[in-house]
Amino acid sequence: MTTVPGFARRIDAARLPALLSAMPKAELHLHIEGSLEPEMIFALAQRNGVSLPYHSVEALRRAYAFTDLQSFLDIYYAGASVLRTEQDFYDLAWAYLEKAAAEHVVRAEIFFDPQTHTERGVPMGTVVKGLARACHDARVRRGTSAALILCFLRHLSEQDAFDTLQAAMPYRHLFIGVGLDSSEVGHPPAKFARVFARARALGLHVVAHAGEEGPPAYIWQALDVLKAERIDHGVQAVHDPALMQRLVAGRIPLTVCPLSNQKLCVFPDLRRHNLKTLLDAGVVATVNSDDPAYFGGYVNANYRQVFAATGMDAGHAWQLASNSLEASFAPVSEKKRWMGQLVECFESFVG
Ligand code: HPA
Ligand code: ZN
Repeated sequence: MTTVPGFARRIDAARLPALLSAMPKAELHLHIEGSLEPEMIFALAQRNGVSLPYHSVEALRRAYAFTDLQSFLDIYYAGASVLRTEQDFYDLAWAYLEKAAAEHVVRAEIFFDPQTHTERGVPMGTVVKGLARACHDARVRRGTSAALILCFLRHLSEQDAFDTLQAAMPYRHLFIGVGLDSSEVGHPPAKFARVFARARALGLHVVAHAGEEGPPAYIWQALDVLKAERIDHGVQAVHDPALMQRLVAGRIPLTVCPLSNQKLCVFPDLRRHNLKTLLDAGVVATVNSDDPAYFGGYVNANYRQVFAATGMDAGHAWQLASNSLEASFAPVSEKKRWMGQLVECFESFVG
């Protein structure tokens, strides 16, 4: 475990919420379709002549009462159906990246689900080019480093994933990795062994959702079969001591999403969340927002609420921010620069 610098111990607890907001951080688990706010769903529906089964933004928001992952995914895929043009994808990503910059996110690694769109007849290029243009503009206009990770939907077949990777090949230079999301239980990582091997052979980074609702065995598979470099969620790892050892010894990051876990009833209450347990055990855990438009907050709200609920301190804040920078796929030179900014930020809160 990297050590927590002494100055982090000398920060007044009253300043913790401000520190959490101000500290430079990476967001590594954000589904761009999950940043689609109800207001934008209505605006895009009107722009594209799509009719919605809800009369108002408020009525749509009222439907956001989830009992588990699947109950969320049904509404999430329905919401994404208003996205049609390259400009729609640009506007979506730009809206997220502006919020991220305001929350001191210096690096965003953004998931997108092309199959949600290509199966509705939206071309792959429309999706990727719109998102990538927003990432480029975020760098130029806001100084935010942003990159894309293409996710396969695990409830679909491995052949469908292969076809998706093939369709994305003309845009290989516009994304840095592949991931695995959607309905977890019943769709183990091993189902995608060959397509992940292909992705690795192409030089892509690989990550996978595992251990959100699924068992520790799925996390083992993501590591051993898919060779995942990071695990998305992974909170079920605490039930397997050998797996915890593996995560700690291998410094394998977990991209944890507290408000998502609360909204999808992974934990009965945010006070019962195991983020502090993971960190104190030496796991390279990070804080992320997953689907902020649906789960009640962007990344800083995730930090603030999980800290308030579980009693973490400035040492944990240091650990989480430095973990997020370390766990990112950004160049080492950029990571060093952000670590310098992190030190400066913490020093400005001492005393
Ligand atoms: N889990 C699985 N699939 C998803 C999620 C998630 O939290 N968010 C969007 N797709
Ligand atoms: Zn997710």
